[in-house]
Amino acid sequence: VHCLSIDSLSDGHLAELLANAQEYALDRRAGSGHLAGRTVFNCFYENSTRTAMSFALAAARLGAQAITLSVEHSSVKKGETLADTARTLGAMAPDALVLRHRQNGAAEEVAALAGCPVVNAGDGTNEHPTQALLDALTLLQRFGSLQGRTVAILGDVRHSRVARSNAKLLPRLGAEVRLAGPPALMPDGAGPSDVDSAIAGADAVMMLRVQRERLDQELDDAPGEYLRRYGLTRERLALAKEDAVVLHPGPMNRGVEIADEVADLPGRSLILRQVANGVAMRMAVLEMVVSHHP
Ligand code: NCD
Repeated sequence: VHCLSIDSLSDGHLAELLANAQEYALDRRAGSGHLAGRTVFNCFYENSTRTAMSFALAAARLGAQAITLSVEHSSVKKGETLADTARTLGAMAPDALVLRHRQNGAAEEVAALAGCPVVNAGDGTNEHPTQALLDALTLLQRFGSLQGRTVAILGDVRHSRVARSNAKLLPRLGAEVRLAGPPALMPDGAGPSDVDSAIAGADAVMMLRVQRERLDQELDDAPGEYLRRYGLTRERLALAKEDAVVLHPGPMNRGVEIADEVADLPGRSLILRQVANGVAMRMAVLEMVVSHHP
């Protein structure tokens, strides 16, 4: 079993992951040593703070050893292809390989060649399944069930693998997902999207980072303009349900897509809860892919 995309996970996998991650989040199975003696390769070809550290910590909490490929010093710099890197790392037979890469489909390509379980930690603008899973866990802890709940996912939807994975996962759990953002940052072919109408009456609002590093053309927005027109301000949040919760996958551009006072809203900003749940969910994911591997 790999964890490459939301569609690659069966309903049974989803139930298993959410139940096990919740146990880990409650610390009931902490230090269980379920993966003692196992080895996880962490290969991050794009920057990461939360995802990389939480995979390493998840492995450690399960008793496995995480070994980090130092991409800056790797043979990619000597021109080795992703396919050859996959075969090379696979030949060492790690128990799992965690991959983040700028190219869409990279995790799938590596999974086909490495011969070990592969976890997609973000491939280009395509998917980031473990992030969506930890978001779902965070929402489930708050709401009990997502049946009939509305989640507005806002901002730079075009470049967001987090939005893409959540748009597939959350409806499978019963939620309605509304995507909206500036026209230039919506995917091609997406219908009209007005941020205010997407927020109206929502139970949860997930704000996305403006991914300037993936833009071919500068946004040319005046200082403060993005926040005013599309960002999550106190006033805009007031359009959602009265006790609506706030999520953000991080890293945040404070004052751009989210106002400080919203990011830090006591009781309603779940942003650090998402981070904590990331460790628990990645424990569940690593355990699942390793234990299902022959
Ligand atoms: C996101 C990512 O890398 O896709 N970060 C994360 O993993 N929490 C979102 C982003 O970079 O904006």
